[in-house]
Amino acid sequence: MRALIAVLAGDGIGPEVTDEAVRALGAVARRFGHEFRFESALLGGAAIDATGVALPEDTLALCRRADGVLMGAVGGPRWSDPNAAVRPEQGLLQLRKALGLFANLRPVAPHPAVLGASPIKPELLAGVDILVVRELTGGIYFGDKRRSDTDAVDVCRYTVAEIERVVRLAAGLARARRRKLTSIDKANVLETSRLWRSVVDRIAAAEFPDLEVEHMLVDAAAMHLLRRPRDFDVIVTENMFGDILTDEASMLAGSLGMLPSASLGERARGGLYEPIHGSAPDIAGRGIANPYATILSAAMLLRHSLELPAEARALEEAVSSAIVRGTLTADLAPANVTPATTRAAGDAVLAALG
Ligand code: IPM
Ligand code: MG
Repeated sequence: MRALIAVLAGDGIGPEVTDEAVRALGAVARRFGHEFRFESALLGGAAIDATGVALPEDTLALCRRADGVLMGAVGGPRWSDPNAAVRPEQGLLQLRKALGLFANLRPVAPHPAVLGASPIKPELLAGVDILVVRELTGGIYFGDKRRSDTDAVDVCRYTVAEIERVVRLAAGLARARRRKLTSIDKANVLETSRLWRSVVDRIAAAEFPDLEVEHMLVDAAAMHLLRRPRDFDVIVTENMFGDILTDEASMLAGSLGMLPSASLGERARGGLYEPIHGSAPDIAGRGIANPYATILSAAMLLRHSLELPAEARALEEAVSSAIVRGTLTADLAPANVTPATTRAAGDAVLAALG
């Protein structure tokens, strides 16, 4: 197969981790006889520095043409003045919105070889396999915003159609897994959550009677995720709750550096794939960041946008065997083990791919 993959390295550790994911995709292409063409473009702080805007038109045009988009991370202290007119994060939010990527899939499955890296007791982690589906183009992230000297407002709005499409997608994914769907909201306080809950109930009854569907308040969910993580299968939730809960859930996997994500719209083609972690300015440029989340995001690109499931599995297995062989970056390595560099982790994946 021939495919065009847009690469948006972004800021901080973004370039280091996307380099390794591109190398891994190149190795997959060689092994399976595909032709992947990579084209890079600017996003986030790097784009602001070069062009004055966080999402340049060229970047968006490339992403629209591409079969899949691989992204690193955006943001950093250089651009985080609260009074700045443009912010790196706006570029990513505009990109998600412009591409219609309403569903963000964030799988959380702790690797058995690194349970010790998690702050959670290992006996709670064995067998954890969660898929969080985060609504990505609505809610408080995209509602009207304004600020004066004495107050500020962020509007949280959801339409029925926005809730329906992400709930349908999540329920469909649950059907192919363990058939349990947990919808997380704050229906005891928020009107948007009460609408969310009623849409979930209606769709579940009419279209997914075979699923076990439960509702959970977000504060309780934050607790249950750590207390009994094995009980979750597919979680569906609104934009900001999903953002927060997945950083929390990453601790089940031992590190933020382990969680990939896929952002999908109505069509398989043209999804956006990025690690859930940020730009980690504190370690940027030192070659020590964990590239596995980005490489696993590249595997999701193979599966969801290029529809190459065997290739996706091969890449995931290569990451797994790199981990099993003990190639662990600083975020994963036990105290008595010398941490691997970003490049060494990428090399281990390439070696495992053969
Ligand atoms: C994420 C990030 C982004 C978000 C930021 C960088 C805008 O935290 O993808 O989880 O909040 O969606
Ligand atoms: Mg986040």
